[in-house]
Amino acid sequence: MKIGSLLLENNTILAPLSGITNLPFRLLTRKLRCAMVCSEMISANGLVRHSKKTEQLLNSLPDEKPLSIQIFGADPSVMAEAARIVEDSGANVLDINFGCSVKKVLKTGSGAALMREPEKTEALIHAVRKSIKIPFTIKIRSGWEKSGRQALRIAEIAEACGVDAIAVHPRTAGQKFKGNADWSLITEIKKRVSIPVIGNGDIVTADDALRMLNETGCDGIMIGRAAIAGPWIFSQVNALISGNASPLVSLSLKRKVMLRYIATSVEYLGEKQACWRMRSHLGWFARGLPHNSKFRESVRQVSSAKEAVDIVEEYFRSVQVFSDRKRQKNQQTVYGNPEDREAVSKPSIGFAVKDGSEVQSNECIEYFED
Ligand SMILES: Cc1cc2nc3c(=O)[nH]c(=O)nc-3n(C[C@H](O)[C@H](O)[C@H](O)COP(=O)(O)O)c2cc1C
Repeated sequence: MKIGSLLLENNTILAPLSGITNLPFRLLTRKLRCAMVCSEMISANGLVRHSKKTEQLLNSLPDEKPLSIQIFGADPSVMAEAARIVEDSGANVLDINFGCSVKKVLKTGSGAALMREPEKTEALIHAVRKSIKIPFTIKIRSGWEKSGRQALRIAEIAEACGVDAIAVHPRTAGQKFKGNADWSLITEIKKRVSIPVIGNGDIVTADDALRMLNETGCDGIMIGRAAIAGPWIFSQVNALISGNASPLVSLSLKRKVMLRYIATSVEYLGEKQACWRMRSHLGWFARGLPHNSKFRESVRQVSSAKEAVDIVEEYFRSVQVFSDRKRQKNQQTVYGNPEDREAVSKPSIGFAVKDGSEVQSNECIEYFED
């Protein structure tokens, strides 16, 4: 997929996720074959005021590129200036948030509030387009009505103003995350504009991603919540798109992802910040693994990188013991012939876990370059 002059290596994109898509997480996701990562939303006002805390959110590294930086705000001149700051920071893409429906953001007239103000939106997009040369995208919701009328209008405005691609999360602002995303609106928008349309909303598995591409005709897919606990979904989607079966994710990959997340978080956020983030994120990575509630409890208290590594290593040792026991039991009860016995007695690290129990697979993802 091409976004303006930017050619992506595939058509999978990490959604902007406030509090989640920081530099360490973005680096991790790019390693797992996501073609483009997005920052969390950044206040245009904060950038223009040169708030240190806000400016830090622009920090990036070559390894995570291409990177899209998302800003939010309502004033066209402030947004244009913030966009220039983003361009100067080395971002590959500038994205504007027209989807956030959090009260604090709506109160300032930003995010989804702009979806019911087409004239303001047009002025804002126009000002930003004029101020930057890098590819420019917008991310919208359905608007404030189920019909999606406002989204169709904003999409047309965006195309006319020279926006390079539109990401669509087809839920109304009032819905927040309730109900289902109405993918038919993605189809409608794709028919209405000729710039690339990126579908977003309710992709939980790699199969969902393929289904969205096929059902809506969208050019790319953007994954949010499913990537928080399982950033490997991008490798799975890419395998499916290339016509291969969606690979299962091995325990060894999950272990490596966790260890990498610890190391990069400490390196780029500092140990204190990193520990604070790891307390929740390490637990999320363990979703679907055996005995993860005890693991979650332990990481919730973590106060140093060494402690985090020890907890992760100890956890995977215990999962291995659990898997070995389970395999031995299966050997006695299920597998009768010698060939099967040999197959099930392979070391469990490298095996995959599906629906909470270990399964054998020759197609585990081991794609994780060092
Ligand atoms: C924790 C969290 C933080 C989010 N932060 C942002 C954000 O900063 N900017 C944005 O445009 N959308 C944000 N979103 C919305 C997601 O980008 C995405 O549109 C939504 O989660 C639907 O996609 P999904 O079903 O793949 O999660 C956020 C969603 C969640 C769950």
